[in-house]
Amino acid sequence: MAPRGLCTLSVVLLWGCVVVSSSSHTTVAPPRDLQITDPGLLGALDVEWKPPPNVQTPSECTVKYKFEYRNTGDTDWKVIFTRKLKFRVGFDLSRTAEVKVQTLLKGRCTNDVEVQSDWIYATFQVPLQGKLESQVQNFHCIYHDWEYLKCTWQPGLPAPPGVHYGLYYWYEGLAQAARCEDYTQDHGMNVGCTLRNLSQAEYRDLNICVNGSAAAAPLRPLYTTLRLQNLAKPSSPRQLVVSMSAAEELHVTWSPPGGQTPPQCLEYEVEMAEDLGEAKPAWQCPEKKTSSYLSSFQSF
Ligand SMILES: *[C@@H]1O[C@H](CO)[C@@H](O)[C@H](O)[C@H]1NC(C)=O
Ligand SMILES: *[C@@H]1O[C@H](CO)[C@@H](O)[C@H](O)[C@H]1NC(C)=O
Repeated sequence: MAPRGLCTLSVVLLWGCVVVSSSSHTTVAPPRDLQITDPGLLGALDVEWKPPPNVQTPSECTVKYKFEYRNTGDTDWKVIFTRKLKFRVGFDLSRTAEVKVQTLLKGRCTNDVEVQSDWIYATFQVPLQGKLESQVQNFHCIYHDWEYLKCTWQPGLPAPPGVHYGLYYWYEGLAQAARCEDYTQDHGMNVGCTLRNLSQAEYRDLNICVNGSAAAAPLRPLYTTLRLQNLAKPSSPRQLVVSMSAAEELHVTWSPPGGQTPPQCLEYEVEMAEDLGEAKPAWQCPEKKTSSYLSSFQSF
């Protein structure tokens, strides 16, 4: 009995050994020449690499890449599985861009087990000129009525005399970054800019850079990426008409604000107060109306 049990055990061990060694012998090298280049699109960077050396990919085995990227300081990597050798992805240029790629090999040559190479890494940082405080402050943008984007800012510190700020932007579809032409000024200094005709940029990344030149010292540019649909603000409804019917019903009607805001995105709020000659009428909100065009409601 005892010898037979031992024999079974040794056969199992041997078989296990064969499988482990056959898959662990298959290795794959990482890709080569990982490079990040800046095409000047204010945040979109081009990342490319070359296949591992001497890949004679056995037939029935496929080579793929796992490409991951983030800005330094982010906790998570964004992950892309691909067979391509080049990607354009968005970063925040005020921080270092980090990328890594590894080769993945899978198929009959690996017993259908995915074999991963080591990673290769690359980083990129635009030259950071000027001190951080010299960057413009309180940068805000509103997409008014889905029609025009107005951005405002305050000068960095110390507010340099004779500073000249410019706003540049890019979104997918523009051949290159463009300069805003319509500035708001305060004492001759650009402190805001209005961009129109941005429908192509909706639901995409809109990359922005506000930089400036001053005679005294270089200024730190501000980089940011906007999503227009998150910055939309409608104006007030128009043509408010209040009337009282014979049955003492109060009718309130209005029409939608102008602009291109999609009607399904609009919601109205009605408040009313009785004028009792008090200094401050108490406004009440009797009811909310969604998507209403020429609405009315009954009062009291
Ligand atoms: C609006 O932008 C498009 C490209 O996105 C351009 O072809 C068109 O001429 C622009 N229109 C105006 C009024 O600027
Ligand atoms: C501001 O940024 C734009 C776009 O990158 C660039 O063309 C321009 O030279 C910069 N200006 C200054 C003063 O750095």
